[in-house]
Amino acid sequence: SDPDLVARATAAKAALGDKVFILGHHYQRDEVIQFADVTGDSFKLARDAAARPDAEYIVFCGVHFMAESADILTTDDQAVVLPDLAAGCSMADMAVLGQVEAAWKALEDAGVADQVVPVTYMNSSADIKAFCGRHGGVVCTSSNAQTVMEWAFERGSKVLFLPDQHLGRNTAVLKLGIPLDKNVVWNPRKPNGGLTAEEIQDATVILWQGHCSVHGRFSPDTVDALRAEIPGINILVHPECQHEVVLKADLVGSTEFIIQTIEAAPAGSAWAIGTELNLVKRLAAAHPDKRVMFLDKTVCYCSTMNRIDLPHLVWTLESLAAGHLVNQITVDAQTAADAQTALQRMLDLPG
Ligand code: 13P
Ligand code: SF4
Repeated sequence: SDPDLVARATAAKAALGDKVFILGHHYQRDEVIQFADVTGDSFKLARDAAARPDAEYIVFCGVHFMAESADILTTDDQAVVLPDLAAGCSMADMAVLGQVEAAWKALEDAGVADQVVPVTYMNSSADIKAFCGRHGGVVCTSSNAQTVMEWAFERGSKVLFLPDQHLGRNTAVLKLGIPLDKNVVWNPRKPNGGLTAEEIQDATVILWQGHCSVHGRFSPDTVDALRAEIPGINILVHPECQHEVVLKADLVGSTEFIIQTIEAAPAGSAWAIGTELNLVKRLAAAHPDKRVMFLDKTVCYCSTMNRIDLPHLVWTLESLAAGHLVNQITVDAQTAADAQTALQRMLDLPG
């Protein structure tokens, strides 16, 4: 990275001292990660943000929904800052509150809403988390989706899983043993989600039709080709990948799990990883004694995560050091209170 920008970021961070706490998601660029006080997956970062009530500014190097969650979990005196306001998440944008409310109304009309527990992936707007909070539901992340879904099934006989159909299906089928045909997909663009009342009544899991465009690109054919090319290779993927890919993988888990798995792997072992490319490249560089590669022939960064770059971080830190609060992410009080209910149900679960 540009040495002048590195020097400016270093100086601005030093000038802010304990006033600033910088969180970095594992998909961030190296040039940004080097300034993070902590790195982590969505779950760890939510906890880390809540654990620093003394920091005046929480600079979130990640995407919008993560910064919203941090704002909900931190005190009113703290400002959460997103270095580029255009760093959103296409998956989170696939579930809009009005659509989810319409789906809930349809579930009421089908006579099943009182049996349904809504579960939303962390990768959703604060509005959707608040909806879950108001309807007895909960938030999950890729590292606790199984525990959270089990919690939900102790409270209802059906789950409405938002917005990532793949994480929902992979967890329901592979972790909870729910038959594949008991998972149905709710298409928010069709009346009644494109389902009949009987299909809704018969379903155990209603999966919102959302997905991650980055993880959606990995294909089962690539897994087969790599296995043929490199005998003994281990396939390690994120649960946002398609079910057919996860079925063919050796291991599946969150970004934090992926890192721990590679750290613990024996020297000389070969790994193909199905997750965002910044993380895979960093793992390959950190473990030259292991063969770590990307599970795709094409380049696949998360374009919105990548919007947070060193120039944006420098601008943010220098602005804060000069006393200008920029790019603050705030969630209104009622939404925050309801979303906190759903987040707290998750944080209170063991593990
Ligand atoms: P985790 O870091 O929780 O595994 O999430 C991956 C992701 O896609 C974040 O947007
Ligand atoms: Fe969203 Fe996928 Fe990017 Fe994660 S990797 S922020 S789910 S688009």
